[in-house]
Amino acid sequence: MKETTLASVSEEVINQLPKGALLTVKSGDKINTMTIGWATLGRIWNKPVLTVLVRFSRYTYDIISKADSFTVSFSRDGSLKNALAICGTKSGRDIDKFKECGLTPVYVEGIESPYIAEGDLHLICKIVYKSTLEPELLSKEIKDIWYKDNDYHCVYYGEVVKVLSK
Ligand SMILES: Cc1cc2nc3c(=O)[nH]c(=O)nc-3n(C[C@H](O)[C@H](O)[C@H](O)COP(=O)(O)O)c2cc1C
Repeated sequence: MKETTLASVSEEVINQLPKGALLTVKSGDKINTMTIGWATLGRIWNKPVLTVLVRFSRYTYDIISKADSFTVSFSRDGSLKNALAICGTKSGRDIDKFKECGLTPVYVEGIESPYIAEGDLHLICKIVYKSTLEPELLSKEIKDIWYKDNDYHCVYYGEVVKVLSK
């Protein structure tokens, strides 16, 4: 795995998102990974920042709400296809997704959350801010489509501290 710049992979990140990526978090003795399809990439506070959206109902939320880091792993070669399907429909409350999907956590020095070895592009992020969506500030259109059941997202802002690519 080689370290690279965010700018060199940003277009790929945007194009990969609709295919899904694995958001991995660890806090204390709890670790989990789940499929995400939404994220934003940009620059805030003079830092490269990736935001991810996690609904309150996810087991991932229980962990990320106490975590100080997260990683997002993509598979450009499609090798995570099966894992993306399982990790996007099953909960870490019920199964060990690492065991079930044959995923290997890899740790970067100084960051608690590992990335997934079976991916080929990884964004390693330190959480610098989080905010919950305010229902009354959402447009009616988005609220009606995405939040009929009041299961809102919490938005996690991660400073991208390392980008690793195969
Ligand atoms: C393609 C795809 C994209 C998804 N994107 C998100 C997302 O951005 N945020 C989210 O909260 N859930 C998203 N999900 C749903 C979670 O991955 C799913 O509910 C998962 O089972 C939650 O696992 P957990 O309970 O172990 O956290 C997505 C699912 C799929 C299949």
